[in-house]
Amino acid sequence: MVTVNLRTKSPKAKINKLPLTLDVDTSGTVKDLATAIGRATQLGVERIRLTLIDNTRLVPEAPLDKYDLQDNSIIYVKDLGYQIGWQTVFYIEYGGPLLIHLLFYFLQKPIYGKVFEHSATQKAVFYMVMLHFLKRELETMFVHRFSNDTMPFFNIFKNSGHYWVLSGFSLAYFCYGPEPRPDLPGYLFYGLIAFWLYSEVSNFITHLILSSLRPKGTRTRKIPVGYGFNLVSYPNYFFEACSWLAVALLTRSWAATLFLIVSTATMFQWSLKKHKQYKKEFGAKYPKNRKAMFPFIA
Ligand SMILES: NC(=O)c1ccc[n+]([C@@H]2O[C@H](COP(=O)([O-])OP(=O)(O)OC[C@H]3O[C@@H](n4cnc5c(N)ncnc54)[C@H](OP(=O)(O)O)[C@@H]3O)[C@@H](O)[C@H]2O)c1
Repeated sequence: MVTVNLRTKSPKAKINKLPLTLDVDTSGTVKDLATAIGRATQLGVERIRLTLIDNTRLVPEAPLDKYDLQDNSIIYVKDLGYQIGWQTVFYIEYGGPLLIHLLFYFLQKPIYGKVFEHSATQKAVFYMVMLHFLKRELETMFVHRFSNDTMPFFNIFKNSGHYWVLSGFSLAYFCYGPEPRPDLPGYLFYGLIAFWLYSEVSNFITHLILSSLRPKGTRTRKIPVGYGFNLVSYPNYFFEACSWLAVALLTRSWAATLFLIVSTATMFQWSLKKHKQYKKEFGAKYPKNRKAMFPFIA
């Protein structure tokens, strides 16, 4: 048993009723400690994030003796705010574009003021977008194994904004209008659809590989290998960008191009940050020549 000091990092982040000290049984887990803090502060345990003075995060399932706590060790406590399930956020953010594309594709009269025959490109893009987001919903349900159960409630607006606005309203409104760009010649049209299909299947394979690294119910992280992972840390992001490139080239619309640019830039930023994290976590074991997202480039 040790007596630790509980602190918040700044006065602004003050937590009501946070005890200054707490007697901790070091044979328990971090979750036991968070539960005790939750009891005192009346915060749900999922809202509580604990870190040491050197910024090491105390992982909920980890045994406390892993962190070498002593009498008077300082533990920083952070209230993460209201939380929402990760999966719920994904269902909502991908569900938006599914519904929006259905509405814009089928409600021609109220939206565009007339009824017209969709071009071959419009038909193709409709099925591609629907399949893409259905795949994402099914992956959320059956494939991904997330390390966090929840995320801050506000994220639902931030994340959904990206998909609902850029790949939902903007893409649907400008793609399904009465004056689409002419269809590309057959070899380009079918070539781009084949490229899109290849990218989607490849993205799915990389998700299966990531999921296979983590036994169900654990938060294990391993170094992924095979299918694109030998070249980059995030082939899933690379293939996702490829499939939106196919949509942008097929439609040659500014809306699809804008989504391609914003989503690729976002994924690239994330890949750089997570690539750095891999190197820090696995050190010399992490393959040296692996780039973050773009093979041989960056
Ligand atoms: N179009 C867009 O704007 C956009 C943006 C972002 C993502 N996406 C799409 O959404 C997909 C998922 O995105 P994401 O950011 O969640 O991808 P991610 O960070 O690569 O993670 C995918 C899944 O694999 C797990 N995972 C990652 N690395 C792991 C490792 N080393 N060991 C064990 N498990 C690991 C993750 O769990 P934890 O991270 O919870 O540990 C998560 O459940 C992407 O592949 C992409 O298709 C699209």
